[in-house]
Amino acid sequence: MADKKIAVVTGGNKGVGYGACRLLADAGVTVLLTARDEARGVKAAKSLEGEGLEVYFHQLDVTDEASANRLANYLSGEFGRLDILINNAAILNDRSMSSLTVDMATLQETVNTNTFGPLRVCQALVPLLKKSPSGRIVNVSSWFGSMTDMHGGGYAAYRISKAALNAFTQILAEDLQGTNITVNAVCPGWVRTDMGGDGAPKSWEEGADTSVWLAMQPDGGPNKGFFQDRKPHPW
Ligand SMILES: NC(=O)c1ccc[n+]([C@@H]2O[C@H](COP(=O)([O-])OP(=O)(O)OC[C@H]3O[C@@H](n4cnc5c(N)ncnc54)[C@H](OP(=O)(O)O)[C@@H]3O)[C@@H](O)[C@H]2O)c1
Repeated sequence: MADKKIAVVTGGNKGVGYGACRLLADAGVTVLLTARDEARGVKAAKSLEGEGLEVYFHQLDVTDEASANRLANYLSGEFGRLDILINNAAILNDRSMSSLTVDMATLQETVNTNTFGPLRVCQALVPLLKKSPSGRIVNVSSWFGSMTDMHGGGYAAYRISKAALNAFTQILAEDLQGTNITVNAVCPGWVRTDMGGDGAPKSWEEGADTSVWLAMQPDGGPNKGFFQDRKPHPW
C-alpha cells in the first residue's frame, strides 16, 4: 500500500464522482470515496470493493469545515500524505430560475457547496498534498462556468459558482507555485447522472475520464488549465 498513490474524491457515491473512484482504483490508486451521507457512501464503496478494487469510504460534507478537518486527521494518521484530490461534489438547484428570480438561499447554498466546498477541502488537505512527491488537484467545473460560453439565460447560481470555481482554480495554482502540486479544472461534458439527466450522451465513466487523466499526469504535466475531453477548454 505504501507505494500506491492515495486519492480523495468528493461526492463519490454516485455519478461522475463514482466513475472517478472506479477509474482511479482501476489504475492502481488507493481511493478514499467520500460522501456526505454515510449510508450512501458505504454502499458505493462496498460495490467497488466487490469488484476487487481498493476503495475505502470516509464521510465528507464539503460544506462542513469540521468534516473536512476530520478527513485530514484520518489521512494524516493512516497514510501521512495525499497524492490526488478530485473536488467533484456539487449541486444544481436553480434549473427553473432566472438571475432575476433565483432566491438568495439557493445562491448561497450553491456557492457554499460548489465554490467554497472545494476551497474548504483544499484548505484542509493541501498540507497533506504537500507531503506527496507529486500532488494533483482537479476541480470538476463546467462549461457553464466558462466566461466565453455564457449563452442563454438561467442557471445563475450554478453558473456563478462554477465561474468562481474556475477563478479559484487559477488563484490556487498561483498560490501553490514552487510546490509539487498542480491544480487544474475540468468540464466532464454532458453526462447521464442525476444532475445531467437521462438524455445526456456520456456515461459517468466517460464523464470522469479527463479528471482521472489529469490526476494521473506525471511531473511537468498541465497546471492552471481548464480541460474537456483531454483538451484545453477556454476559461
Ligand atoms: N452531469 C453533467 O452533465 C455535468 C456537466 C458539467 C459538469 N458537471 C459536474 O460534474 C460533477 C459531478 O456531477 P454529477 O453529474 O455526477 O452530479 P450528481 O449525480 O448530482 O452527483 C453529485 C454528487 O455531489 C454530492 N454532493 C452534493 N453536495 C455535497 C456536499 N455538501 N458534500 C459532499 N458531497 C455533496 C452528491 O451527494 P448526495 O448523493 O448526497 O446528494 C453526489 O455524490 C459536479 O461538479 C457537476 O457540477 C456535471
